[in-house]
Amino acid sequence: MQNGHNMQPILEARNLTKHFTAGNALSKQVVRAVENASLQLYPGRVTALVGESGSGKSTIARMLVRMYEPTSGELIYHGRNCLLEKGRRELLSYRSQVQMIFQDPFSSLNPVRRVRDVLERPLHIHGKARRGKVREQIYELLHRVSLTPVEEFADKYPHQLSGGQRQRVAIARALAVEPKVILADEPVSMLDVSIRMGILNLMAKLRDDEGIAFLYVTHDIASARYFADETLVMYAGRIVEGSTSEELIQDPKHPYTQLLLSSVPDPAKGLRTGAARADKGEVPDLAAVGNGCPFAPRCPHVMDICRQAMPPVTPLNDDRWVRCYLYEPVPEAVAARN
Ligand SMILES: Nc1ncnc2c1ncn2[C@@H]1O[C@H](COP(=O)(O)OP(=O)(O)OP(=O)(O)O)[C@@H](O)[C@H]1O
Ligand code: SF4
Ligand SMILES: [Mg+2]
Repeated sequence: MQNGHNMQPILEARNLTKHFTAGNALSKQVVRAVENASLQLYPGRVTALVGESGSGKSTIARMLVRMYEPTSGELIYHGRNCLLEKGRRELLSYRSQVQMIFQDPFSSLNPVRRVRDVLERPLHIHGKARRGKVREQIYELLHRVSLTPVEEFADKYPHQLSGGQRQRVAIARALAVEPKVILADEPVSMLDVSIRMGILNLMAKLRDDEGIAFLYVTHDIASARYFADETLVMYAGRIVEGSTSEELIQDPKHPYTQLLLSSVPDPAKGLRTGAARADKGEVPDLAAVGNGCPFAPRCPHVMDICRQAMPPVTPLNDDRWVRCYLYEPVPEAVAARN
């Protein structure tokens, strides 16, 4: 995607693809979880990745944090293809710059460790601990995520905390290594609706005050509008539309994005009620998706060409693009076949 804000991306995915093999020795199936995903993350900006369950959002995030090795594609961090740097030290250094926050704050914290131990560990592993200053470093981290009084929170165990407080500890743990990029995979979807906004506001503050680049993975397109500068829409392993969040919500171009938004009468309300979730309707069988547009079986505008090849990226303006033949002149060779 192009961008109208003339910044260099800090992290960029180019045509990232991930295929999993499913089934047994007798019948193997290739699950094309992510196909040719390209995206850019910028310092001080949030990019949302929105899509229904199974569309490949977490697989993209896991490739970006290098938990999953991509089947193909490039991952460019600060201008370097970091997938070529596979050593243990190089991976550790990458992880101190690109951190992930998970959906479930209940399982992501070790129940037998106090908060101070949870935060101290990454300081040592990543060489960030300052001699004689570790306690202060822990208190400062707790301050940054508004868990005060800090001395009190440092001594608590996870079971003594609410879901929102645990997610704040998980964010503090990510911050301990001084990351430039945070990948937040559904960070609020397991929390009470009433405390979601506080966690999103905390992340927005880290974006604004500290210039951290965020990828915000979510089902909830309304919260993407609230929190994210740009939004990418994902369907069946493909990113099908990218835009500034405001334009996307005001004027969705891809038929899938239009379907998503048609079930959201008031996006602001959706954030409070959770009504704007991208999980309506059937989920496509990824193993059965052919070479064409994956949305063809559900699309009210489907044409013959849609079933033959994935539509290319059509830029609509400096900040917007879409992958759909409705916005693409039909190539002559294909038109001749129809
Ligand atoms: N480790 C794995 N092995 C095999 N298949 C996998 C693996 N991880 C994910 N998949 C498959 O890849 C596809 C995409 O999964 P992914 O978890 O990325 O989707 P998602 O968009 O994050 O969904 P959700 O909203 O439910 O979290 C799914 O069909 C899933 O079953
Ligand atoms: S490419 Fe065709 S099937 Fe796919 S969304 Fe566009 S019109 Fe619908
Ligand atoms: Mg997921």
